Parts: sequence; structure tokens; C-alpha cells
Amino acid sequence: MPAPSPPQVYIETFGCQMNELDSELVSGALRSMGYSFTADASAASVVLYNTCSVRDHAEQKVRSRLGEMALRKKEEPGLVVGVLGCMAERDGVDMLKRFPVVDILCGPGELDKLPAMVDNAVRTSGAHGGEEEFQRGVRGGRGEIQSEMGRGTVVAAGSPAAGGIPNPVSLYSSAPSASSALKLSAPKQVALQGNASRRSATLAAAADSLEMLDLSRSVSPTDHNGSAYVRITRGCNKFCTYCVVPHTRGAEVHRPPEHIIDECKRLADAGVVEVTLLGQTVNHYRFEHASAVTVGGVVQPQKGRSFTGGHTRDPFAGAQVTTFADLLKRIHDEVPGILRLRFVTSYPRDFGDDVLEVIRDSPRICRYLHVPAQTGSDRMLTAMNRGYSISEYLEFIDRARAILHQPEINRPLTIAGDIIAGFCGETEADHLATADLLRRARYKNCFIFKYSPRPGTTAYDRLPDDVPEDVKRRRVNELLALQQTISDEISREHIGQTLGVFVSGLSARATKAAKRKERANAAAGVTLTISGRDPVHAEGTDASNACTIDASHVFDDGSESLEPHGPGVQLTGRTDGDLIVVFDCPSGMSPDDLIGRVVPVRVVDANQLTMSGVVVR
Ligand code: 5AD
Ligand code: SF4
Repeated sequence: MPAPSPPQVYIETFGCQMNELDSELVSGALRSMGYSFTADASAASVVLYNTCSVRDHAEQKVRSRLGEMALRKKEEPGLVVGVLGCMAERDGVDMLKRFPVVDILCGPGELDKLPAMVDNAVRTSGAHGGEEEFQRGVRGGRGEIQSEMGRGTVVAAGSPAAGGIPNPVSLYSSAPSASSALKLSAPKQVALQGNASRRSATLAAAADSLEMLDLSRSVSPTDHNGSAYVRITRGCNKFCTYCVVPHTRGAEVHRPPEHIIDECKRLADAGVVEVTLLGQTVNHYRFEHASAVTVGGVVQPQKGRSFTGGHTRDPFAGAQVTTFADLLKRIHDEVPGILRLRFVTSYPRDFGDDVLEVIRDSPRICRYLHVPAQTGSDRMLTAMNRGYSISEYLEFIDRARAILHQPEINRPLTIAGDIIAGFCGETEADHLATADLLRRARYKNCFIFKYSPRPGTTAYDRLPDDVPEDVKRRRVNELLALQQTISDEISREHIGQTLGVFVSGLSARATKAAKRKERANAAAGVTLTISGRDPVHAEGTDASNACTIDASHVFDDGSESLEPHGPGVQLTGRTDGDLIVVFDCPSGMSPDDLIGRVVPVRVVDANQLTMSGVVVR
């Protein structure tokens, strides 16, 4: 009998780059099981939300999507809805009570189980409400639970019993379905980590099944635009008082260097030229080989040792240890196909000169650092439990600039930050101190957030959220206005420089034009794709300041611009320092010739968001 055609999946991602990567990995796993994806939620019979809990606003969006899905499910009872990521972990099974529309709840530490959960939910969909028993992997321990939805079995995630959800072999693939042997009598599928990740005090994590998700990443030459994320650490041990991440993503865990390098090689072989290494505190990366544990032939990720600040080199550096500096150097040297290597997000303390020197000496490592200060006030830093003072932060910024800022060789250092405005107890003097910090740090851009109290955090439990909403808003706006002036100045400093630009796609202006053309073509029955992608999803910024040089032009330094292609084909990309540049596609070249490549662009104009330039010879 022919296999039934697979249901279409829609996945929407909220939040950080880590979530984007998680969605990509999960989508790859589902694709390999035969599922296909749609960008149109209404055409999908499996709708997945990969959620973020860092601020309430992101959670509200998901709650409103779930409301819409609840209405839809009345018409389509077979619809499968999944909540993945931090919100699933934070809300736990309470979410199933508040949103009965949810069939799948999967925390960020359990995503390797998601493909089998989706498969199970799809097969049992339509059977809602009939039976009482359901199987769950939830917050540690094993026992019986009673909820409003019935009685079920609790299986601790990570325990052998949690392997009740087997490795995914889909009923939609030609192989027989291993999971079809599983008897699920009701469709709710739950996998949450709880605080299981913090239970072991040893460096080695027990069998880390999530590592398998990263290891099984499917890399194909056609499904990227030249850029990819690679995870090097997961979780966080910092417990900043405002932050939900240590509670949702668990303890800091570091991947074995061989796994990371191998993944980078596979990506480079598939044509990826830009890799961003990801971690919540990425510069804490360290792998102690003497303590490595192998389970089933796979070297396991390792728990992070707690850092004591104040060093300028990793104190554990040595033959048996791969430090963050070592890892960067190895990727740079062993995977030369990666022309751009960057990493986010760095924790400002514990950032040694060893790392800065490797960046300086490695031409393919970007001179870009994202090092959030969060506030300019020492008092607030203490309340936030950040573990450093403003003078220590500024010492780091100065040290980084002294080693890495070399505009004279076209290698300026750019620094980005994050600020939380209106944290508990923040006075006007604290706010002014933050404004001073922005002036002093001179970020190329800074994300400025209004403090959002998060249940489960120390600040939520112990510190009153006492800055009125209108004051928070005003402070955010004042800081944004100041930062815009600084970003504008920094962009303008690049006018006249020729910088390598990694071309990511059509600019917003060109995308709009492509959309118009696509609509016209659709009427005539023609489909338009660029780089195998739907142009509607090309990345870019609106470049009202688009460069208009009409013919080829020789600059003072002898470089010559290539004649632009004509109106409408404008491309966008990023410099080594993560600045956005738009430029017209030169005549005689198609966007496909340039997308995914690094091309020399001379900057001719700039504002705080975007620089514009021309491709030069
Ligand atoms: N409220 C506002 N912003 C927050 N961030 C983290 N937690 C909160 C919160 N409760 C910000 C920090 C962090 C970024 C990812 O999100 O600035 O660096
Ligand atoms: Fe959250 Fe602080 Fe960890 Fe960053 S370092 S993820 S802000 S707890």
C-alpha cells in the first residue's frame, strides 16, 4: 500500500538566534522523516511555535497565536499544535490546562524528541478527548500525576524511561515505523527538562541526547544563503536576577570541539561561508578532554566549570583543554572555507586577551563583539547579579579596542550591546549613568529593552518592579535616541572605506519589487525564485538612501566601481563588523552570482541603520 502523503508543517520562531538554530535542526529532522514545510500557517496541518520567554511581549504573541489556533481547531479537529522552546519549559504542563489546543509541549532541552512527538501526535490526531491515559516526560521523577485533563504517567526527561519516545522513523518514510509500536492512548505529548540539567555536579553530563540533534544536522548545498549558526555551548550558569534563560535552558553545557569543527567542515563543504558560533555565554567555552565521557561511542558535551573572573587568559589552558581561544583558532585554521567566523553572545567578564589575540591574528575571524553591559550603573549591576563593575566593563572595552580596532588596515572593531531600562529600583541617576555608558562604549548598535518581570526569576520574587511604565518607556526612548546618534556617527566614519560585504540577499526595496513582479508573473503563470529561495523572504533593510551612481566611476584611490545593473536589483549584506550595506547589483552580474559571497564594496553614504555603496574592482 502506498505511504500516505505527509502533512505539511508550519514552524514560527520567536526570540534569539539559538531558537532559530533549534527550529532549523528540528525542521531538518522532520524533513528527513518525510514531512514538508509551508510558509502559510493556514495550509499546514501541523503548526509549531518555537517560543521565547525572555520578555512578556514575546510570550503574548504566542498566546494570541494559540487563541487563533483554538478557533481553527474547532473546524479542523485533526490540526496538531505544538509549543516548543522556553515558554513550554517555563509554563510546563500548566500550559496544557490554559491552552487545551496544545498537543505537543517540548522544552528546549528535549528537542531531539520532537520529531517522534510530532509523528505520534499526527497519528493520534483526531482522537482527542476520548481517553484518559497519556504519556508524558515531565519535570524529573517517575510517578502518577493527576491533572484536569486526566491521569497519566510521568517520565523524567533524560531517564531511560523517557526513551519511551523512540528514535524517529516516520510512517511517512519508506522504512517501517519504529514508533508505530508505541501505544499512545491520547495525543498530548510532553517533554520538559525541569531542573534535571543541574542535578549532576560533575563536569560530564550524562548521555546528552540533545547533542544527537546537532550531530544529525542535515546540510545541503541548496538550503542556505551562505550563512549558518553552529551551537558551541547551551544553557547558562549566570543567574542574572532578571533572566529566565538559566531556568528554561538549564545548566551551561559545552559541546566537544571535534563535533563543532566537523559541523563547520560539513557546512563549508556545502557552500556556507559565514558561521556564527552560538552560546548564551559563548566565551565561557572550554572542553576538558581529561574529563570527557563517551556514551555509545559518542563523546558527550560537558558541563561548564564555574568561572572566577579577573584573569586575562583561560587559567585551564593546556594540552588537555580546548579553550575558547583554541576553538576559534582551530575552526579558523582547519576550515578555511569559512570566510567569516563570528560568535555571540559574550559575557563581558572572563574575556581573556588570549581570545582577543586569536581574533587579531586570524583574518577570517570577524572583528565584532556583542557584549551586553545591561546598565551603566554599578548599583543596578549588583541588583542584576552581573558580577562586574562598570569600570571593569570599560577596562574590557578599552582592551578589546586596543588589540582589535585597526581601521588603518580596514579592520575596525565594532561592538554591540544590550541594555535593560527601568530595572527594579532604577533611579534617574542610574539612568543617566547608562546614557554615559552608551557615550563611552560607542556601540555600533545597542538593543535597548524595557525591563519585563519574569516569573521564576529572583528579581520577580524579591525585587519590586517599581519603575512606572511611562518612566520605563521614556528612558528607553531617550537611550534609543542617543544610541541612534552614536550609530549614525559610526556608520558615517566608514564613508570612503572599501569593505568586504557578505551578500545575504535582495534588499527590502528589491524584495518589494520582486514581490510586485512575482504577483504580475503569477497572473501569467510564472514562478520567480532567486538562489532557490522565495524572494519574499529575502533579508534586507529599506534603503531610502540607496546609492545611485549611474555609470562606472574611478575613485581617488584608484578603485573602480562596477556599473550598476539598473533600478530595482539592489542587494544587501553585512560587513565583517556586522554593519548593513546596500548596493546595486553590477551590470552583467545576476544577484545569484553575488548572494552568499563576500564582495568588495566602497561605502559612499551612510545613516544610522544602513550604509550604501558600490561594488568595486
Ligand atoms: N526584561 C527585559 N530584557 C531582558 N533581557 C533578558 N531578560 C530580560 C527581562 N526580564 C534582555 C537582556 C539580554 C537580552 C537577550 O534580553 O538585555 O541580554
Ligand atoms: Fe540571562 Fe545573564 Fe545568562 Fe545572559 S548571562 S543568558 S542575561 S542569565
